[in-house]
Amino acid sequence: MTTETTFVMIKPDGVKRALTGQIIDRFERCGLTVRDMKMARASQTLAEEHYAEHKGKSFFEPLVNFLTSGPVIAMALEGAEAIGVVRKMVGATQPKEAAPGTIRGDFCHMGYDRAAEVIGTMPNLIHASDSPESAARELALWFGDSEGFKDYSRCDAELF
Ligand SMILES: Nc1ncnc2c1ncn2[C@@H]1O[C@H](COP(=O)(O)OP(=O)(O)OP(=O)(O)O)[C@@H](O)[C@H]1O
Ligand SMILES: [Mg+2]
Repeated sequence: MTTETTFVMIKPDGVKRALTGQIIDRFERCGLTVRDMKMARASQTLAEEHYAEHKGKSFFEPLVNFLTSGPVIAMALEGAEAIGVVRKMVGATQPKEAAPGTIRGDFCHMGYDRAAEVIGTMPNLIHASDSPESAARELALWFGDSEGFKDYSRCDAELF
């Protein structure tokens, strides 16, 4: 099993809906270690860089506007196969397709709403790196060359 570090971000809708604690709780419960974390407001440049792979798509400009619309919580999470594990925990991109038990599946329907069918694809609470290359790029983009807090272990580390 490979130990990986992935980049995870609670998007402005997750912060505004006060879901930060519940979302981080899920990652802690599944054994991931928080190596870095900060609240930040993405600049236009940072948001465009973060979603550079989507440049040219019809939703790119609204996506950048959405990401800069409020503060986010950025995290570096470490654990066994962390990149794939976190993507599974996050769920499908489109909230209405996200399975129950996933973060998007469980929380995107609350409020403004799957039932009312007004929820689109964009406010889907959370971002997670989709590959080792994305993780390295995104961690560098958001945390610079900081290695984060590597000087501690979880008290239950030997169980994982
Ligand atoms: N067709 C679309 N219309 C509107 N917004 C979209 C659309 N497709 C994607 N998005 C938005 O752009 C983000 C990036 O899309 P991507 O295809 O990378 O999905 P993802 O990898 O599941 O999400 P993320 O990169 O945020 O973790 C999505 O999370 C969503 O907010
Ligand atoms: Mg993506």
